[in-house]
Amino acid sequence: MHLSFRQIDIFRVVAQLESYTRAAEKLHLTQPAVSMQVKQLEEDTGLALFERHGKRMRLTNSGKELLHYANQVLHSYSDMLSAIEDLRDLSSGHLVISVATTATYFITKLLADFTTQHEGITLTLDVTNRQQLLLQLENFEPDLVIMGEPPKGHNLSSERLMENPLVVIASPRHPLAGRQQIKLQEITNERFAVRERGSGTRNAIERHFMSHGVECNSTLEMRSNETIKHSAEAGLGLGIVSLHTIQLELEAGRLVVLNVESFPIRRHWHIVTRKGKRLTQVARLFRDFVKREAPRTPLLNFPT
Ligand code: PGA
Repeated sequence: MHLSFRQIDIFRVVAQLESYTRAAEKLHLTQPAVSMQVKQLEEDTGLALFERHGKRMRLTNSGKELLHYANQVLHSYSDMLSAIEDLRDLSSGHLVISVATTATYFITKLLADFTTQHEGITLTLDVTNRQQLLLQLENFEPDLVIMGEPPKGHNLSSERLMENPLVVIASPRHPLAGRQQIKLQEITNERFAVRERGSGTRNAIERHFMSHGVECNSTLEMRSNETIKHSAEAGLGLGIVSLHTIQLELEAGRLVVLNVESFPIRRHWHIVTRKGKRLTQVARLFRDFVKREAPRTPLLNFPT
C-alpha cells in the first residue's frame, strides 16, 4: 500500500472541517477532487473513514485512529521543513507568518523594516480571520501568528505585544459626533457595520454587548475593515473597529471616535506559536524583532 503525503493532508483537512466543500476551499481544489482523494484513501486502506451526518462528514472510529497518525506525520514534516531552513544560511532564510486581517494595519511596516535589516530573507504572508488562524496553527502551518489573545487549551504559546483598543466610529457629521458620555443603550438603536462571524473583532464586540446586557438592533455584516470604515464615513451607520485601522482617517478628519461609555473595548495583540513546533532561526529573529518594535507603533487618539 502506498499513501501519498497529499492524500494524508487532504484527509486531515476534511476531518477538521467536516466538509468536502470547505476543505476544497481551504486547499484551493475542487470539491470532486477532494472527495475523490478521500475515496481513494478509503480504497487504499480498505477502511471506511467518514460517515455522513446531514451535511457533515464525521470520522468513523477507524478515521479517528488514522487522524492520530496523520497529525504525527504532519508535525514531523513541519519539523523537517524547519530543520532544512536552519541548515541553510540565515541570509537566505524563509519566514512563514499569518496575521489577523486587522493586524495588517501595523504588520506591513514591521515586515518592511525587518526585511530591510535582513536582506535575502523571503516571506510568505497570509492574512485571514481568527478562526482560520486557529486552524492553521493546529496544522503546524505558519511559523508565527499575530492575532488577538488565543483561546486556552489549544496547545498554543502566546505573548502579549501591545494594546488593540476597539472603538465606535462615525462620520464627523453624525448627530452623536462630539457628544460626551454617550450611553451604551443610546447606540444600540443605531445601525452597525460589523465584521463577519469568525473575526476576533466580531467575537469581542458580541461578548462586550452581552456582558453589558444590551443587543444591537440592526447590523450589517462585512468581511473587511475597509468596508466598515467606508460605510461609517458615508453615514450608512456606526462601526466598531480596532483603533489601528483608522489612523489615516482620524488624521484626515474623515472619521471620529465616539465617546461611548464602556468603550474602548480593551484587547491586545499577541504573537502566537503552536506548542511543539520547531521554530527556525529566522522565526526566532522575527519574533524578537516584533516583540521589541510592535509596542513602539504610534497610535493616534489612544484612550487613557
Ligand atoms: P480579526 O482579528 O481581523 O479576525 O477581527 C483580530 C483579532 O484576532 O482580534
